[in-house]
Amino acid sequence: MKTTIAQVGRYVNEQVTIGAWIANKRSSGKIAFLQLRDGTGFIQGVVVKAEVPEDVFALAKSITQESSLYVTGTVREDERSPSGYELSVEQIELIHQATDYPITPKQHGTEFLMDHRHLWLRSKRQHAIMKIRSQIIRSTYDFFSERGFTKLDSPILTGSSPEGTSELFHTKYFDEDAYLSQSGQLYAEAGAMALGRVFTFGPTFRAEKSKTRRHLIEFWMIEPEMAFVEHEESLEIQEQYVAHLAKAVLDHCQLELKQLGRDVTKLEAIKAPFPRITYDEALDLLKEKGFDDILWGDDFGSPHETAIAEHFDKPVFITRYPRSLKPFYMQPAPERDDVVLCADLIAPEGYGEIIGGSERIHDYDLLKQELEKHNLPLDAYGWYLDLRKYGSVPHSGFGLGLERTVAWLSGTEHVRETIPFPRLLNRLYP
Ligand code: 4AD
Ligand code: MG
Repeated sequence: MKTTIAQVGRYVNEQVTIGAWIANKRSSGKIAFLQLRDGTGFIQGVVVKAEVPEDVFALAKSITQESSLYVTGTVREDERSPSGYELSVEQIELIHQATDYPITPKQHGTEFLMDHRHLWLRSKRQHAIMKIRSQIIRSTYDFFSERGFTKLDSPILTGSSPEGTSELFHTKYFDEDAYLSQSGQLYAEAGAMALGRVFTFGPTFRAEKSKTRRHLIEFWMIEPEMAFVEHEESLEIQEQYVAHLAKAVLDHCQLELKQLGRDVTKLEAIKAPFPRITYDEALDLLKEKGFDDILWGDDFGSPHETAIAEHFDKPVFITRYPRSLKPFYMQPAPERDDVVLCADLIAPEGYGEIIGGSERIHDYDLLKQELEKHNLPLDAYGWYLDLRKYGSVPHSGFGLGLERTVAWLSGTEHVRETIPFPRLLNRLYP
């Protein structure tokens, strides 16, 4: 029976054939242990000299790391194995012999591994992270589809810059100037006026000269946008969504979390509601914690976010930031117009801001005024202003950074390991 490593549990004590690669190998004169991987998982194949034809044992002993093969054997239950199974190998058919695979079981430096990202992806650790990433994407579609959201695809090539003009990737669009999308939000707002509740999911680009564990040049963002939804209701949807993701990873990625050594008790605590503090309260908290020189109107950096997050065992919303710190489209608070109806969601354990969101300005005149104040070209935003001209309604939305969320839930220190081929400052290869 041809099957996969993930499915072997269905064939206990039966003979199966699996297409696989050699992840690692150990052998003595009488027995060889093949660490097999097939993309769906990892399993140990045991080849006993006395039980197989001579050529099979010889092949098992000489086979090199990352060689590909069809391996046939009997599935055995095995309590010591993380997956619960082992394969008693009976036959091996070599497909391709790999020579001098560069990533050996010894330790390698990060730059070396990054240069070999196309191969590094095959490791157990990267496999686990990619599985968790995929689960988060799948659970995102489930969450929003179950709540009546429509998936809306926003363009990558745009003429607008929702998150400020300093971090744009410029390109030519024939004779016009164009930019790579920083965010699908503005298009999602048009979508919300057509479909009520939408979410976009796609790559976004920031020409940011930041070299930190939280920054990528190209990252993927999930951006829900909701008509007739005000700030508070948006926060409720955000906390339910994030709690849903934490639960999905706990429910479906146990092997992967174990492989990564993730402390799952931390994830089990991630249940809605999440605490909310205003920017002003966050400032007081920071002063209590010894950040003496921070002033009202200053943005929070990583050390500030981490200090605030340490105060809570769940993600925390920081709401009502100074208007001067945030983009042009945010709705001023009703009680005072120097702060906006926005929130950043800060993940625990130092993983930083995973969501930025707000209620949007829905008054035509105010939005026009803000565009002008930010020196944004009105002609490029004509269509966006139109949304306030024809049946404008209160609406809110947010953007969740996929890689930071994967980093947090999987317990991965740096976002470079949470995307298949990271685009970083000074790295476009592979
Ligand atoms: O806070 P940001 O810039 O918000 C927006 O783009 C809004 N238009 C979203 C919206 O309301 N629809 O980015 C949102 C999230 C951040 O919280 C962070 O998780 C992630 O995107 N992010 C990055 N992730 C990796 N590398 C970067 N350089 C990132 N910049 C933002
Ligand atoms: Mg932000």
